[in-house]
Amino acid sequence: MNRKATLFFLIGSIVMAALIPLAVIADRRYERTDIPRIAIIPDMDKMPYLKPERSSDLFADHRGMRPHIPGTMAREDFIFDNMAEQRAHPNNWKKDHVVLSNGKQFQRVMYGQVLTNGQASFINHIPIPVTRRLIARGEEQFDIFCAPCHGYNGQGNGTVNIYDSELRAEGESREAGTWVQPSNLTLIGVQALPDGGIYDVVTNGIAAMAAYKDQIPVVDRWAIVSYVRVLGLSQKKVPAYRLPATVRTELTNRK
Ligand code: HEC
Repeated sequence: MNRKATLFFLIGSIVMAALIPLAVIADRRYERTDIPRIAIIPDMDKMPYLKPERSSDLFADHRGMRPHIPGTMAREDFIFDNMAEQRAHPNNWKKDHVVLSNGKQFQRVMYGQVLTNGQASFINHIPIPVTRRLIARGEEQFDIFCAPCHGYNGQGNGTVNIYDSELRAEGESREAGTWVQPSNLTLIGVQALPDGGIYDVVTNGIAAMAAYKDQIPVVDRWAIVSYVRVLGLSQKKVPAYRLPATVRTELTNRK
C-alpha cells in the first residue's frame, strides 16, 4: 500500500468510527425496552408518582387513587363552581353572590344543609338573594336540564316521558317494566320540601333520578330551585275570592 492509500484508509476508519455513537443513539431513540434509559441529566424523570387506576404500597389498602376524606371537599369544587358562575354572570357576581365568599355560608350552599346543634337539616330558604335575574337563570337552566323529563311546566311529562309512552303504545319499549315517570314538581309532595331538599335532589339525585352536581354549578342549582318554586306557585289553584277585584270582574265577564 502506498502512503496515499494508507492515509485514505485511516481517515475512512476514523469517520466510520465516529458514526458509531450516532448510530447507537439513533437506535436507542427508537427501540422499545424495559431497561430504563440512561439519563445524563435526570431532572425529575424518576419520581414515585401514581398513575391513575394503579396500586400503591404507600397506603394500607393499596389503592393509588384516594377516596374523598369524609367531611371534606376538594378545593377545586369550590373554585370551579364559582369560576363557572362568574363567567356566566360577570356583571352580577359581586352584586348578587358575595355571600359565597363567606366560607360558612358556602358550606350551606354546597350541601343545601345547615348544622343545628350538630344535627344536619335542609335549609328552608335559598341562601343567596333571589333576584329576578337568578330566577331567569333558573328558568333557562331548568329548561335545559330538567324539562326533557319533568316538562317545561314541571308536571312530569317531558319529551322523554312522551317518547316512552309512545314506545309503550307501540309495544316497543324494552325498558317497559323499569321506566319511572318523572315527578310532578308542582304538586305538594315536592313543593312541601324545604329549598335545601330540592337542592339536594338536583345535587345528589334521588331513586331513579341521577345527580346533577357535576353538570350544574352551585349557584345555578339554587337558581333552578327558585324556578321550581315559580312553577309550583304559578300553577297553584287560587280560590276566586283571593284574586284582585279587577281580575275577578274580568274573569266573570269572560264567561
Ligand atoms: C332523566 C330524567 C330526569 C331529569 C333530566 C331530571 N329528573 Fe327529576 N326526577 C326524575 C324521576 C324519574 C324522578 C322520580 C324518582 C323516583 O321516584 O324514583 C324525579 C324526581 C324529582 C324530584 C322529586 C323528588 C321527591 O322527593 O319526590 C325533584 C324535586 C326533581 N326530580 C327535580 C329535578 C330537577 C330540578 C331537575 C333538573 C336539574 C331534574 N329533576 C332532572 C327524572 C329526571
